[in-house]
Amino acid sequence: MIDIQENVSLRPYNTFGLEVIARYFVQVKRVEDLENLLQDPELRKLPRLLLGGGSNILLTKDFEGLVIRIAIEGIEVVNQDADHVWLRVGAGENWHGLVEYCLAHDYAGFENLSLIPGSVGASPMQNIGAYGVEIKDVFDSLEAIHLETGKRRPFSHAECRFGYRESVFKRELKGQYAIVSVTFRLNKVPRFHLDYGDIRRTLDEMGVGQPSIQAVSEAVVRIRRSKLPDPAELGNAGSFFKNPEIPKAQFDQLKARFPELPGYPTTADQVKVPAGWLIERAGWKGKRVGAVGVHDRQALVLVNYGGGTGLKIKELATNVQNSVEAEFGIRLTPEVNFV
Ligand code: FAD
Ligand code: EPU
Repeated sequence: MIDIQENVSLRPYNTFGLEVIARYFVQVKRVEDLENLLQDPELRKLPRLLLGGGSNILLTKDFEGLVIRIAIEGIEVVNQDADHVWLRVGAGENWHGLVEYCLAHDYAGFENLSLIPGSVGASPMQNIGAYGVEIKDVFDSLEAIHLETGKRRPFSHAECRFGYRESVFKRELKGQYAIVSVTFRLNKVPRFHLDYGDIRRTLDEMGVGQPSIQAVSEAVVRIRRSKLPDPAELGNAGSFFKNPEIPKAQFDQLKARFPELPGYPTTADQVKVPAGWLIERAGWKGKRVGAVGVHDRQALVLVNYGGGTGLKIKELATNVQNSVEAEFGIRLTPEVNFV
């Protein structure tokens, strides 16, 4: 019997700590329970919202439907050869818990993705990434359930159509599938990615000569703790916007006006610009508007100091977008999913 609760506060289930009520709320621990739920004639009529760790959503109003929190657990070795091991992981597993499992077993590939909040099931949604690695680099396949037909469907790497903070599940198939498990291909021999950001400097500070995946993970954890607010202490959803990619010609024009503007070429004629720099230069860093604001150490992170609402954060985000656009001619796109 699946326990469906009524009028449940979602505050403990979103990292902004926003107080929003779900008309119906259910946690599913087994794929079969999800399948049964999707066949129920009454529940089928309701709007649905899938939820993992709630670390990439902005809840703007009460949800007059069924919130399904995916809590399917399990980590299983499904294949291995001399170089690789394939792990099938339940969508409800905690992401960093999986990273720690792999560190303990010497499975390499996740170390740069340490300490990202949220669930395994949401990780392919936006192809999570950090410190020069994205899950597309270790992703093998996933299994999802079509919310209308209840049918299971495997998705290959190509079918997920991963991009920077993007996948088919955020675009063409938005709201259509529940991801129930993800299979990753990890390396038995590490291939280190140490060139991004402060990783090498932090390893030096730690006194690490010869890197290991455990040391790289520890370095990433240290860097992240120094920059990003802990949602347990200050409500946030990580980067609120994506870093924009602009044509090189536009970048060159901006660079002439703002010589300090950082930029990272992504193709021969596209340059990625740090949104945090644009927001800081537009004067928003550390700015507080009532109970919400722009973080004082990382301008790309919007925060809820306590008692803020999703609508206030949305309003702040729009004001940030407008002023960055007026100053630099670049419209920032949110990374966070609005509900
Ligand atoms: P949720 O917020 O619960 O859901 C996100 C979206 O996915 C929603 O649209 C939801 O409906 C959908 N969804 C959730 N589960 C499923 C499922 N099983 N099937 C189908 N749809 C589903 N992200 C990065 O990429 N890199 C970072 O470095 C990073 N750092 C962060 C730091 C902090 C402090 C915070 C708070 C967030 C950070 N994030 C980062 C964002 C976030 O952690 C990731 O996007 C994470 O994958 C979200 O997982 P979640 O389970 O919390 O998803
Ligand atoms: N910057 C500023 N001011 C700020 C913040 C940043 O000028 O207040 C500039 C600096 O030039 C800095 C650059 O932006 O060098 C990059 O900043 P940082 O290294 O903090 O990374 P980011 O671009 O802000 C991205 C991801 C993060 C990821 C880190 C590390 C996006 C949208 N964000 O942040 O992902 O952890 O790089 O790889 O791509 C997330 O997606 O939620 C997230 C936290």
